Amino acid sequence: MERDLFVSVLAAVVGDAHVLTDPGMTGGYETDFTRRFGGPARAVVRPGSPEEVAAVVAACAEAGVPIVPQGGNTGLVGGGVPRNREVVLSLRRLASVERVDPVAQQVTAGAGVTLAALQRAVRSERLDFGVDFAARDAATVGGMIATNAGGERVLRYGTMRACAAGVEAVLADGSVISQLAGLPKDNTGYDLTGLLVGNEGTLGVVTRARLRLVPLLPARATALVALPSLASAVELLASLRSLRSLEMAEFMLPAGLSLVCRHTGLPAPFAAPYGAYVLVECADSTSPLDALLSVLSSVPDALVAVDAADRQRLWTYREAHTEAISAAGVAVKLDVAVPLGALPAFVEDLEGLVAGRAVMYLFGHLAEGNVHVNLLAAESPSELSEAVLRRVAAVGGSISAEHGVGAAKARWLGLSRSPASLAAMRAIKSALDPSGLLNPGVLLAD
Ligand code: MLT
Ligand code: ZN
Repeated sequence: MERDLFVSVLAAVVGDAHVLTDPGMTGGYETDFTRRFGGPARAVVRPGSPEEVAAVVAACAEAGVPIVPQGGNTGLVGGGVPRNREVVLSLRRLASVERVDPVAQQVTAGAGVTLAALQRAVRSERLDFGVDFAARDAATVGGMIATNAGGERVLRYGTMRACAAGVEAVLADGSVISQLAGLPKDNTGYDLTGLLVGNEGTLGVVTRARLRLVPLLPARATALVALPSLASAVELLASLRSLRSLEMAEFMLPAGLSLVCRHTGLPAPFAAPYGAYVLVECADSTSPLDALLSVLSSVPDALVAVDAADRQRLWTYREAHTEAISAAGVAVKLDVAVPLGALPAFVEDLEGLVAGRAVMYLFGHLAEGNVHVNLLAAESPSELSEAVLRRVAAVGGSISAEHGVGAAKARWLGLSRSPASLAAMRAIKSALDPSGLLNPGVLLAD
């Protein structure tokens, strides 16, 4: 089918205004946040309903046209941008949040609902959503499901897999599976929701999700803690875990903190530099401050906040890392997890490995041993990435903690998955997408 004819087939489904082919209009969909991944799309299609998504996918299946599903385009592994003139299927218009069910403590949200919009909708009903992270204003429910997003509160509420009670998704042939009843008990066969969470757009296009909610906790206490080393941060975590209210334990290192201060204009938080910093937050129905202070009684220094403005200021030291690094250059971003006991030695090892080969900034989610490795001015990015990921595998870690595999790490998936596991994944892929039209090259290398 000629391009123009195919584009007119898509336009017949979603309307002319929602099929973009003009480079002036498609640019924002063709490159990701890292500026390392992307390429021209054949067209960007913006369906306005799950039915339109199904019709677009069916039209692509009939014409043999590959599809890249895209949410808020906040991904960091090249999993949501075109590489080879695919159709970009933007889910952003599926932006409605249905009525919050206070009894089941669940809500159904469209794939294009941003995390911030979801938070606003459920918090007005005194409920909250467990997953939270810095890109909340742009990241969407569909993308969060597709990547099994994690973020800052995983230690309390788990990743998206724990927070998703069901999904509706369009499969590669345009058929729809819908599991939105949110039943806590449903033993009727394979867990298709579990399969679609983390599928990275390779098995189906998520259109809606049934999400588990948690009580909105009104009382919060936040502390930025200064420590001599990352090893002492891990020791502190062991004590913090005694707090029932613990919600967040994020680590930073001096180089990243200085970069954030230069980028944001925030003052250095402490008079002298320390070896490591942990941002801790507790939340409860009554103030968790005293309990938090008792655990922090012997740390070298700490800034404590209870009101929203001060908390936001402490959060900025952590959450501005990504934009500060991006402003400093195009970074190779490797999101990895290692067993907690191995974390301090792993980071020391990494510093030796990278010295003289790149400028490195590390930060992350302490409780999951989740390290965000950011490499600027790397002399040979691919070789250095492989060396880092091999060190991760050597200590029993994962080459992708929360960002997904995407196109960026597909060639190294064998470092984290056995041949039998890879064969099972390929069998599932070819059963559900026999023509390989959904997100080709992502997760499973071509
Ligand atoms: C974060 O934790 O801030 C995100 O995963 C983003 C990043 O790694 O840059
Ligand atoms: Zn993260």
